[in-house]
Amino acid sequence: MWNPEQYAKFSNERLRPAIELISRIPNINFKSIIDLGCGNGEITNKLYEQFQPKSMVGLDSSNAMLEKAISLNSDINWHRNNINDFTGSYDLIFSNAALQWLDEHELLFNKIISCANKVIAIQMPNNFHCPSHVLLRETISENPNYNKKLAHTVRENPVLSKEKYYELFYSKVSYIDIWETIYLQPINGENAVLEWVKGTALVPIKDALSLDDFNEFTMIYNAKLKKVYPQINNSVTLFPFPRIFMIAVK
Ligand SMILES: C[S@@+](CC[C@H](N)C(=O)[O-])C[C@H]1O[C@@H](n2cnc3c(N)ncnc32)[C@H](O)[C@@H]1O
Repeated sequence: MWNPEQYAKFSNERLRPAIELISRIPNINFKSIIDLGCGNGEITNKLYEQFQPKSMVGLDSSNAMLEKAISLNSDINWHRNNINDFTGSYDLIFSNAALQWLDEHELLFNKIISCANKVIAIQMPNNFHCPSHVLLRETISENPNYNKKLAHTVRENPVLSKEKYYELFYSKVSYIDIWETIYLQPINGENAVLEWVKGTALVPIKDALSLDDFNEFTMIYNAKLKKVYPQINNSVTLFPFPRIFMIAVK
């Protein structure tokens, strides 16, 4: 289950890529906008204030996240739904840090392209190959107990190459810009990277284990993390984080 408080622990670092993505959206009149995987609605609300569309939809599958969102702005239509099942057409289709949770990106992106009237703006972490994710899979595969209970949480990397996304957009839009940024994030706390991952990649793992098993799992995983991401002088931990950005104009 998504926990808005855990996710918000690193809100500055999580907000920055969204703001950088929004800053690259062309300043045109959008009558309708949808934010796929809107989470707690903070970024949806920023889009709403900046572009003032007639219709704004924030879509997410998590009740806990949507409860936070609803309390932010009641003029926005908050929909509980799976991103795979969204329908309709929108002038701007936006998604920040959510599509990496879905598989079959070729199908998904073709649907997004066909449902967008004017602009598509997407940002996704590109971190399946990063130590935080590799060590998570290693912790699962090393222990037969976890391996059995967590096999369904282990996914193939759904994020395609930047070149493949370019190919998907190229013949269907008039403008496409795709880029990647690796943020060298200095994050605070004794178990900083573990606390970060608890807000995202550990969500399905927590859901699948008893509390005792989860605590044991995170202890083993955290020991591995601390070797790869050491604290500097018992202070910050550097946590490099690659993200792919896309802006397409129809
Ligand atoms: C990392 S959060 C990002 C939230 C928000 N976009 C932001 O940038 O703060 C990912 C969000 O995607 C949602 N999500 C993941 N898979 C989803 C799916 N298949 N359908 C709808 N929402 C999904 C989660 O519930 C979560 O709120």
